[in-house]
Amino acid sequence: MADKFFITTPIYYVNDEPHIGHAYTSIIADVLSRYHRLFGDRVFFLTGTDEHGQKVAEAAAKAGRTPQEHCDLMVQRFQAAWDKLEISHDDFIRTTEPRHTTRVQEILQKLWDAGEIYESTYEGWYCVPDERFWTEKDLVDGNCPLCGREVRRLAEKNYFFRMGRYQEWLLDHIQSHPRFILPESRRNEILGFLAKPLGDLCISRPKERLSWGVPLPFAPDFVTYVWFDALLNYVTAPESRGGGWWPASLHLIGKDILTTHSVYWPTMLKAAGLELPETILGHGWWLYDDMKMSKSLGNVVKPLDLADKYGVDAFRFFVAREMSLGLDASFSEAALVNRYNSELANDLGNLYSRILKLLHTYNEGKIPQAGDNPNAIPNDVFEGKEPDYYGNLWEGIKRDIRQFELNTVLNKIMQFVRLINRHMEQAAPWKSGKTDPEGAVRFLRSSLEELAAAAWMLWPVMPGKMGELLGALGLKAQDYHSPAEVLKALPEGHLLPEKAALFPRVKLEAPAPAEPPPPPPPETPVIAYEDFQKVQLRVARILTAEPVQGADKLLRLEVDLGSERRQIVAGIAQHYRPEELPGRSIIVVANLQPAKIRGVESRGMLLAAQGEGGKLVLLTPDGEAPPGAKIS
Ligand code: ME8
Ligand code: MG
Repeated sequence: MADKFFITTPIYYVNDEPHIGHAYTSIIADVLSRYHRLFGDRVFFLTGTDEHGQKVAEAAAKAGRTPQEHCDLMVQRFQAAWDKLEISHDDFIRTTEPRHTTRVQEILQKLWDAGEIYESTYEGWYCVPDERFWTEKDLVDGNCPLCGREVRRLAEKNYFFRMGRYQEWLLDHIQSHPRFILPESRRNEILGFLAKPLGDLCISRPKERLSWGVPLPFAPDFVTYVWFDALLNYVTAPESRGGGWWPASLHLIGKDILTTHSVYWPTMLKAAGLELPETILGHGWWLYDDMKMSKSLGNVVKPLDLADKYGVDAFRFFVAREMSLGLDASFSEAALVNRYNSELANDLGNLYSRILKLLHTYNEGKIPQAGDNPNAIPNDVFEGKEPDYYGNLWEGIKRDIRQFELNTVLNKIMQFVRLINRHMEQAAPWKSGKTDPEGAVRFLRSSLEELAAAAWMLWPVMPGKMGELLGALGLKAQDYHSPAEVLKALPEGHLLPEKAALFPRVKLEAPAPAEPPPPPPPETPVIAYEDFQKVQLRVARILTAEPVQGADKLLRLEVDLGSERRQIVAGIAQHYRPEELPGRSIIVVANLQPAKIRGVESRGMLLAAQGEGGKLVLLTPDGEAPPGAKIS
């Protein structure tokens, strides 16, 4: 029987304008869905919108609409965006739909009856714009740690879910299921979070303060708080359709909502007697010019504008290509234009035009007959080693897709495209055709097969343009399950177009003089192993730590590197107090060129990760490793 693949995106806040972050998650989910469909799996791809909350009610009032009218209007922007970006979801759930709200209430009632929910008083610091309570130690300079705005003290009756009782069980589940939270760094983040006592979860808000929500069936003056409502979409949607889709194979989310998905959600499911999802994948963050994108900074990239400018497929290709699993990536239009010109216009587009032109010269524009070995890839490609080039490539891609390593997949395919080009350069059929036209046509058949295979493998990423290309060759992507099937299907005698401009070259428009220069293209996410080997990472033990005078972000550390002592200046003063640090083992780049930072010499750099809410967390060895130990 075909494997089941049920993938979800977060349900996005309906009030927001779709931006590149939303588009990214949806595109990646779409690409994964399309690959799984090519594998022959049974796929269910779910997305939707999160429509309750005070902000929605307020925006509606301001616009003179009811909240529901407001949602009905706002949701269209997401639906239109996904249409345009060729997102092939099977269902779009809205949390204001009865199929959702009735089931949420049923589950709440069940948990209440089972004693999983109780009444108590909630007290804390409340941030009105973020609709969030904070504890004293969360606050930054007395303000909201998320938005920096003022908070107020609130105490009120509320309802709580007994989340804390599931701590041991959850730890155990995460430890025994290495693929439950991916990538590894996020899994460790959650394991760290669960090392501290886990409290119960406040799941309600009084209606007087939050009017637009799902009422608690056992306390109608209260509504469920955002997460208890929103997370349940993953269950209510598939249940409403039947077909036994739950549990999800993959919840694809941004790292901003990791805790809610990997702590709140599994404990809720456990309490409700429902199965757990297989994998929660927290992808990285799109940064603009290395800053987090935000409305207040005015650097929000509107995906539809870029898709208009460069084409939907080029945009999809760029976002899928650029981000490595779990890492952040910088967005820049210049980088997009670079990728577009070098890989799409040049490597892929030119190859196609060239083959068309040559087949019109030597074969009346028709697809030549298949050769003896339809899977032929010239020997120099195998170097005598690989008997089944396509089989291996495709099996590798399947493995990478199951590991969610999309940029690795695209790397492999684009390498293959460059190989086709190289081989074409070597064989030069435009020359050889003058003396041996039949040989040139035979060669062009194999080039066309290679191109068709590449286009088919790229189809999940660029369904528009690759669909167009395959269509011109008389093929339809969805009809095949492996590259070998694609090449065999190339119809002999089919008339090809004379030319095609799949990806016309583009120029980056010069920025208007008032604007800052475009950011430099980000480092390519792939480096050679030799390059990585140049970086010497070592374990160091912190001996002393003290503030750097006049620099409120910097600490001066003295570290023990085994064979020597070093001074390192690190920008972690806002995340660690000096007295917390001595004795800790950390990871440092030992062979970084020394630099003076605020007049203090720094010899090496320590490694830290961006935790939730922009907090930096130090990387440390998970076990005994002496100072100086090499990291490989
Ligand atoms: O959090 N880079 O909705 P939301 C990459 N309604 N991805 C980004 C991003 C960025 N700069 N910014 C946003 C919510 N995202 C809740 C979810 S789910 C039960 C409820 C993506 O509209 C990323 O996937 O704020 C993130 O998780 C999501 O948008 C948040 O969307
Ligand atoms: Mg958000």
